[in-house]
Amino acid sequence: KKQKLWGGRFTGETDPLMHLYNASLPYDYKMYKADLQGTKVYTAGLQKIGLLTEEELDQIHKGLKIIEKEWSSGEFKRHPTDEDIHTANERRLGEIIGRGISGKVHTGRSRNDQVATDMRIYCRDLLTETVLPALAKFIEVILLRAKEEIDVLMPGYTHLQRAQPIRWSHWLSMYATYFTEDYKRLQQITDRLNMSPLGAGALAGHPYGIDREYLAKNLGFNGVIGNSLAAVSDRDFVVEIMFWSSLFMNHVSRFSEDLIIYSTAEFGFVKLSDAYSTGSSLMPQKKNPDSLELLRGKSGRVFGELSGFLMSLKSIPSTYNKDMQEDKEPLFDCLTTVEHSILIATGVVSTLNIVKEKMEGALTMDMLATDLADYLVRKGVPFRETHHISGECVALAEKTQVTGIDQLTLEQFQKIDDRFSSDVFKVFNFEQSVERRTATGGTAKSAVLKQLASLESQLN
Ligand code: ARG
Repeated sequence: KKQKLWGGRFTGETDPLMHLYNASLPYDYKMYKADLQGTKVYTAGLQKIGLLTEEELDQIHKGLKIIEKEWSSGEFKRHPTDEDIHTANERRLGEIIGRGISGKVHTGRSRNDQVATDMRIYCRDLLTETVLPALAKFIEVILLRAKEEIDVLMPGYTHLQRAQPIRWSHWLSMYATYFTEDYKRLQQITDRLNMSPLGAGALAGHPYGIDREYLAKNLGFNGVIGNSLAAVSDRDFVVEIMFWSSLFMNHVSRFSEDLIIYSTAEFGFVKLSDAYSTGSSLMPQKKNPDSLELLRGKSGRVFGELSGFLMSLKSIPSTYNKDMQEDKEPLFDCLTTVEHSILIATGVVSTLNIVKEKMEGALTMDMLATDLADYLVRKGVPFRETHHISGECVALAEKTQVTGIDQLTLEQFQKIDDRFSSDVFKVFNFEQSVERRTATGGTAKSAVLKQLASLESQLN
């Protein structure tokens, strides 16, 4: 018990199972770098207010460097009494530079402001250095495909029923639009969480007047959290990251679902590369889109992490309570899942093949019924009326079992409405239908190319 950092007031031993139950080192060791960085700057802050000498600070910083090397090379030896990354690092620092000096490091600091600081640094760095760049790359891959395959048409769907012809690139651009919003949203979240709790102490504030602005600045924060109680108890940034991840994975899931459908033999629009497919142990012919199914499936896991942590958080009285240690496992898993999902989705998109003949072969003339109605609108007929007239043409084509509305004769058209003339047959052209949609955001080539350029510029 005397080895425990908080062991002074204790006479009894911790139950061994309780020690394991309480320990977070098995997962929070991931934050070792942030923890050492926090201590480095915190001790510099202590030196500034005369609580450490320059020599002591020098010793401490040397020790911290050694510990960082130990962690990064995998040589750090965990001690059975280590409770979490904070106690492990402090214990090790004492072994290296002696407890006479290391014992001063925690003056005015609590693990409560320490852990909140570590978490924010860890999240900020991971999001900025790993997740955001990976996401940008993913979007770039989508935009590249969209540019290269701009001439391919396919059916656009509502209710999973063929609706109107669109460009394949327009479909890609839809997801690039979602993901670009996700990108910007994540930048905002990263910026918002980048505030310093350090110097808040356990809850009430710092008794030696530490310069919190100095600590914040030197740790790369945008500023300090203005209330010490909020500084140690706020885990909104954890919730925001998991909410962001949930929304992002929701987009990934819909994207995957589309591609799963498009890759079926019944559609045959896309062929997934072998690199992202797997086979069946029994059926030799099978090639399954496991990558996409996992992307779809893992979204559920991330939603669970968000709702699970919200439930842990909702009844915690102010300020720090140990329940809050439950933020780490779901958050870390969520970040790993998101990062891996981005990499897999990038691989899928950059390697899949499209089958242009299947996409364009799935276009049917009834998908131009709206264009037929528009044809009469251009002749001055109110749309409500033209909608009805075009519907009658579709019904007649169905009834007479011709292969499509374009197979009706001019006489048949004119019998339905005498404002039809021989130029009506010009309507039945998929390319022209698509090319009429030039207004911003539409599926005409010029409009899609503008979307792609705009998305690209939003990435930086
Ligand atoms: N491992 C703890 C956590 O992750 C660190 C904070 C401990 N604070 C405390 N008062 N016991 O939340």
